[in-house]
Amino acid sequence: MATSSINYDERIPNNVDLSSDRRLKKALEKWQPAFLDWWQGVGPQVFSNNEVYLRTAISTEPGGWANFGYVRMPEYRWGIFLAAPEENRVIPAGDHAGKPVWQEVPGEYRNALKRIIVVQADTEPASVEQQRWLAASAPSLYDARNLFQVNVEEARHLWAMVYLLHAYFGRDGRDEADALLERRSGDDDKPRILDAFNQPCTDWLTFFCFTCFTDRDGKFQLGALAESAFDPLSRSCRFMLTEEAHHLFVGETGMERIIRRAAQLSKEDSNGDARALGGIDLPTIQKYVNYWFAYCLDLFGSEVSTNAGDWFAAGLKGRWREAVDYTDHKAIGVNAYIPMMKDGQLVDTAVPMRNAMNEMLRQDYAKDLERVASKWNRALAKEGSDFRITLPNTRFFRRQGIYADHHFDPQGNAITEAEFEARKNDWLPTESDREWVQSLMKPVLEPGKMANWIAAPRRGINRQSVDFAYVRTDD
Ligand SMILES: [Fe+2]
Ligand SMILES: [Fe+2]
Repeated sequence: MATSSINYDERIPNNVDLSSDRRLKKALEKWQPAFLDWWQGVGPQVFSNNEVYLRTAISTEPGGWANFGYVRMPEYRWGIFLAAPEENRVIPAGDHAGKPVWQEVPGEYRNALKRIIVVQADTEPASVEQQRWLAASAPSLYDARNLFQVNVEEARHLWAMVYLLHAYFGRDGRDEADALLERRSGDDDKPRILDAFNQPCTDWLTFFCFTCFTDRDGKFQLGALAESAFDPLSRSCRFMLTEEAHHLFVGETGMERIIRRAAQLSKEDSNGDARALGGIDLPTIQKYVNYWFAYCLDLFGSEVSTNAGDWFAAGLKGRWREAVDYTDHKAIGVNAYIPMMKDGQLVDTAVPMRNAMNEMLRQDYAKDLERVASKWNRALAKEGSDFRITLPNTRFFRRQGIYADHHFDPQGNAITEAEFEARKNDWLPTESDREWVQSLMKPVLEPGKMANWIAAPRRGINRQSVDFAYVRTDD
C-alpha cells in the first residue's frame, strides 16, 4: 500500500512498500546498475559529476513535496513514487465506467496496456539522450540547472514505468524494461519508438520548444492515462504530472525570455534587426513555433482512430480531466465533427466520438498552448513591440493523419503544393535560420550572467537569487 511519504532508507527509494515483495525488489535492484550505466553513457555529458542544485521528491502530497540541495547527478535518488490511492476510485470512462478500478491487469487488455506503457516509457530516456550535450552551450547556470532537473526527472519517469512493467507484466515486462535501456535516440539499428525522439537537440531554442511543445504532449498523454481504469498506472501518472509541470515552466519561460530579449534588441537596433545585435529575431522564433506546434500535433495520432476508440471503450485511457469535466463518460451515440478534405474543399464530417479521441486530446493541447502564446504576447506588449506570436492552424504542416497528404497555409486554408513550396521559407525555419541560432550557442557559465540572446529569468529557483551558483563549476 502506497503512502505519501517516501522511504529513502532503501537502495531504491519508494512509497510502494517495495521491501514487502522480495522478488520484485530483487528484480528492480538488478535493473538499477544497468540504469546507472545508461545514465553515465548517454545521460548528461557536461558537468556530469558536478554538484547541481536539484529538487528531489520527499513525498507525493500535493504542495511541498520537494527537497532542494546540491547533488551530483549520478548520486540522484531515483525511485518509485505513486500518488496516494484514491479511496473507492471507480473507472472514469468507457464501457466499464463506474465500476471499481483494477489493481491488476485484466488478461484481455494485457497487450494493449503493455504497449501503451512501453511507448510512454520510451520517450523518457529518449529525451535525456537527445539533450546529452546541450549543457556545453548553456546560456546560464540557471538554465543548465533547469536542463539537468528535467533530465533527472525524465529518468525518474523511466523508473515509474519500469516499476509498472516489472510489477504487473511478469517476464514480458522485465524484457521490455531491459529493452528500454537498449534502444537509443537516433540509432540506426535500435532507434527510439517515436520519430520526434530520434533527433538530437543541439540548440537551446530547440530545447525550450521541446519542453514547451513536446513535454506538453507528455502532459496530455499522462493526463489521459491518469484517467485509466488500471489504478497503478493512473497513480503513477498523477505524480509524474506534478513533476512535468516544471518541465513546461522551463519551456514556457525559456521561450518568453528569448521573445522578450528579441523585442529589446530589435528596439535597440536602428533597423529593428535583433540579429544585428546578436539575438534571435522574432520572425525566426515564429517559424520555430510553427514547426514545433505542427510537429507535436502529430504525436497525438490520427484524427480518426479505431484504436483510440477501443482504448477508451476498455477504460485504458480517458479524456483530459475525464472525471471532472465530463458527465457522459461513455461517449456512445455522439459524433465529433472534423473538417476533412473532399474534392479540394474542407467539409465538416461526422465521426463517432470514441474514434475521435486523439483529436479531442489534440484540441485540449492546442487550447493550452493558446493560453501560453497569449502570455508571450503580453510580454511583447510590455516591451513595446507590435509583433505577436501566433499558433498556426492545426492543419498546417502536418505529416501524420488526415491532413498529411494536403497543403495548408498557417491560417488553415487549403493551398496547392506549389503555393506551399513558394512560401515555405517564410513559415518554417530554413537551414540558414538554424545555422544562425546554432552560431549563438556559446556557454555562459558565470553565476547570474546570461547569453545575449536571452533575457534573465524574473526570479531564481526555490527563492534563490538569479545569480546563485545553480551548478558548482569549481569542482
Ligand atoms: Fe516525462
Ligand atoms: Fe517532461
